[in-house]
Amino acid sequence: AVERTFSILKPDATERNLTGAINAMIEKAGLRIVAQKRVRITKDQAEQFYSVHKARPFFGELVDFMISAPVVVQVLEGEGAIAKYRDVMGATDPSKAADGTIRKTHAKSIGENSVHGSDSAENAAIEIAQFFSGNEIVG
Ligand code: CMP
Repeated sequence: AVERTFSILKPDATERNLTGAINAMIEKAGLRIVAQKRVRITKDQAEQFYSVHKARPFFGELVDFMISAPVVVQVLEGEGAIAKYRDVMGATDPSKAADGTIRKTHAKSIGENSVHGSDSAENAAIEIAQFFSGNEIVG
């Protein structure tokens, strides 16, 4: 089925001017960028977005990283988009990511790992709604 997933190009990617390079990998995989904006997220937004990780030892570091520079938030659309984008991103830890994936190619570390993608259809809907209104998504 055609799905939508939520993506973030993280601060380590925007700082290194990798928006275009990563978008090319997304589009080459057959995903369509149907919404996109460059924003600075607030601490409240980052804490809310990552609230499932609140108890993790890296939570504070993760929030500080996500507000350290601009990010690009996106909605990606395509056949099986949620699983497909996870394949294109590669494993969370770039040292474990497969060749040709975004994280293997560009990520610096498990924390500064260049991209986020939703892990389920339920979370995709929640995450998209946190950053986009319906009329900003143009399929
Ligand atoms: P993401 O897919 O955005 O969702 C949760 C994030 O937590 C994950 O990517 C990583 O960037 C980050 N993360 C996971 N494990 C660690 C870790 N051990 N240290 C720092 N950050 C981590």
